[in-house]
Amino acid sequence: MDERWRKCLGHVPTRGVKMKKKVQVRSPINIALCKYWGKKDEENVLPYTDSISLTLDSFYTDVIIERKEYGNLEFYLNEVLLEGNKKEQILEYMRYIEPDIENMPIRIFSKNTGPTAAGLASSSSAFSALSLALLTFFEKTYSFDELVELSRLGSGSSCRSLLDGFVRWTRKGLVEKLANPPKDLSVIVVMLSKKQKRISSRDAMKIGVETSPYYDEYVMKNQLISDEMAHALKTFDFEKVGLLMEESTALMHKVMDTSSPRVMYPTKDSYLVMNLVKDLRRKGVTSYATMDAGPNVKIFTYENHVEGLMEALKSEGFSSLEVLKPGGKARVISSE
Ligand code: PMV
Repeated sequence: MDERWRKCLGHVPTRGVKMKKKVQVRSPINIALCKYWGKKDEENVLPYTDSISLTLDSFYTDVIIERKEYGNLEFYLNEVLLEGNKKEQILEYMRYIEPDIENMPIRIFSKNTGPTAAGLASSSSAFSALSLALLTFFEKTYSFDELVELSRLGSGSSCRSLLDGFVRWTRKGLVEKLANPPKDLSVIVVMLSKKQKRISSRDAMKIGVETSPYYDEYVMKNQLISDEMAHALKTFDFEKVGLLMEESTALMHKVMDTSSPRVMYPTKDSYLVMNLVKDLRRKGVTSYATMDAGPNVKIFTYENHVEGLMEALKSEGFSSLEVLKPGGKARVISSE
């Protein structure tokens, strides 16, 4: 953990903490093309391998923090007031920034435009937005690397939403932009379930690290994939990038399959969609698919293939589809 946030946990709450009246921050989700699955350093949230992602535009989190006249902190997630364990979990995170935050007269609203905890990276947008909003609200001075460290303490992948374009999060903890996506890149999200997953990715990846006999191989191969992908992104060699993405996806899901207990996020339908994309590719449709800690599938393609792909998906019975474009990065929308 960064010394700064560690110190924060230890310090005695001071009176007269600086606070803005109201801030609003928006952050997009990011989808990994090269996957992060497992922490080498649990405390500092450092991954075993580099990972690479892209933010997407229409699924994002808005965090609003505002001062109240009196009373204690209230935290609303998607308009529901958090209580009990759920509140405690988020408080634990926010104490990195203000140890006495629960006793402060503040209201926080965190709202996702996409489904929450359904393998659509809602935690990546949520924690990048929350960390930036808290630092802004409490008028902290911070560097980009400190923001990265704070964000990933909430959810590792969230630090990749702090930059736009193709972004790499390295084993050392650095977050860097590799390249801009082509303008006509599109991502179709095949929505198979909006239900919340039964096991968090945080817990599931820990089980993978500890029990999968395949984990070392994943680390070795996934690191090579990320190096190759970073190179292929420089000129946007879509075929290379897409095939590497599918390989990284398969490696991560093999770890899940060989974990004990077995972690099962994809469904039969997820694999049907993955195979349909491969079939269409053989017929000349530039498209590559990935899935994460949930059943929903994301298809990377070019704009001119979107219509054809949607028709093919619908004719197989997959009608809940969203078309997304590359997004921006976490940003402060207003601060007063
Ligand atoms: O950052 P977490 O704990 O939500 O884990 C994210 C893991 C995956 O989404 C499955 C892969 C990734 O690299 O985003």
